[in-house]
Amino acid sequence: MSETSGQRAEQEHRDSDQELVVVANRLPLEYDPETGWRPAPGGLVTAMESVLRDKDATWIGWSGRYEDDRHQDVPPPPTGSGNLHIEEVLLTRAEVAGYYEGLSNGAIWPLYHDAIVTPIYHRTQFDTYRRVNEKFARRVAQSAPPGALVWVHDYQLQLLPRMLRQLRPDLRIGFFLHIPFPPAEIFSQFPWRRQILEGLLGSDLVGFHTKDGAVNFLRLVRKFLALRPGGDRVVVDELSGTRTVRVDAFPIGIRTQDFVELANSPEVQDRAREIRADLGDPKTLMLGVDRLDYTKGIDVRIRAVTELLEDGDLDPTETVFVQVATPSRENVEEYQRIREDVELLVSRANGDIGKLGVTPVHYLHQNMPRTELAAMYVAADVMLVTPFRDGMNLVAKEYVACRVHEDGALVLSEFTGAANQMAEAWLVNPYDIDGMKGAILDAATASPEEAHARMAALRHGVFEHDVERWASDFMRDLEGRRGW
Ligand code: ADP
Ligand code: F6P
Repeated sequence: MSETSGQRAEQEHRDSDQELVVVANRLPLEYDPETGWRPAPGGLVTAMESVLRDKDATWIGWSGRYEDDRHQDVPPPPTGSGNLHIEEVLLTRAEVAGYYEGLSNGAIWPLYHDAIVTPIYHRTQFDTYRRVNEKFARRVAQSAPPGALVWVHDYQLQLLPRMLRQLRPDLRIGFFLHIPFPPAEIFSQFPWRRQILEGLLGSDLVGFHTKDGAVNFLRLVRKFLALRPGGDRVVVDELSGTRTVRVDAFPIGIRTQDFVELANSPEVQDRAREIRADLGDPKTLMLGVDRLDYTKGIDVRIRAVTELLEDGDLDPTETVFVQVATPSRENVEEYQRIREDVELLVSRANGDIGKLGVTPVHYLHQNMPRTELAAMYVAADVMLVTPFRDGMNLVAKEYVACRVHEDGALVLSEFTGAANQMAEAWLVNPYDIDGMKGAILDAATASPEEAHARMAALRHGVFEHDVERWASDFMRDLEGRRGW
């Protein structure tokens, strides 16, 4: 599109409501040959599905299906209750291996999470990452109406904003990163660091969960692109003239009313009672809910609980720990390793501490419906959220939203984005197992008054910074004039 038609489109969209195109690696649904369409995992989908539910928008992403399957007789993805239009991108097996399992989840994911496992850099995988970003960019360029707002999500598509701007300069492009953005000491090792920074600067707005992420990005832009950010703005020189990119923090939240309604529903209340009864009505029910990911600190959490039970600080006949672990990225080696580690730890714990009829650690490696998850949150006295690093962590907020009686205790890693807003939780350093044991014990034995005071404050924060506010703040900035 020429600059003139871009300018015309710009004028047109000022006069009308701009259309929104969301692009993310994932669609809100993924196709599983055995179960059919089902909700895709992860915080990005939870958040965006809830804000787009009643909006007119197009969501472009991968469904989990391969290009080889193009001719399979698959029903179209259900669109839900609103006017969400879904556009499926199919990937080849080689693209999934190189772009998704390889560069995205074998290199960028660990790198951005403090390199807690060693990132693996393959040049051929970066090449595939670039080609798949181009594929998504071309699809968006074809689909987006003139002057549309395009909201690009997450680390799988960091090259896309620049590519898209070259194809469609009339679009307003926002990018949001759902995972941490690391400091220069870590990011600098990425072999294609300039390409990533330039890719992101193709946006009009770049958003992170935390101020730290935004500051890291601005420093890196200065260091590697020799640009001079002023405050939260970076001016980039392009053939068509200069352009300003805004960089800021937008902490994501949850759709609180959904969880409150669920938690108050008789179905969830009954199910919560049933869960406790099935577990032998323990005095203390502790819960962990995570994608099965090595960043989540599931292993160290199981160790901490096991030691507390072994040492007799917690009574194994009165305490039960349930760990729900959603299957995730199962073709990536490090995910296979963490699964084996967790399974070994659970079986050791039960072998060592359990008795006939007493199973202190329960482990569920499965997806579950939202109602079941809510029932777990309602049933649990102590929620353990202990990642080594996490962009935000929505599970912590979901638990808090479900504690409608303002009871229960949240143990939260200080290395989550959520910890910035949830200072009233029992904050822990997940690398300090003794410190973590102490915090878990304090949380499990806190007086009702203390638990109530902390939970009331936590709820206030979670309700104040909900997902609507996140989306609205981001869209207002992107659009340059209004929120939703
Ligand atoms: P991440 O995006 O890294 O997976 P978050 O905590 O931010 O981590 O988001 C996870 C989301 O996935 C939450 O909305 C949570 O409710 C959902 N979830 C986690 N485990 C399950 C499960 N077993 N079944 C269904 N949904 C799950
Ligand atoms: O929230 C972080 C995130 O990595 C999302 O980008 C992603 O959709 C989700 O977690 C789940 O991971 P995946 O899409 O690889 O299954």
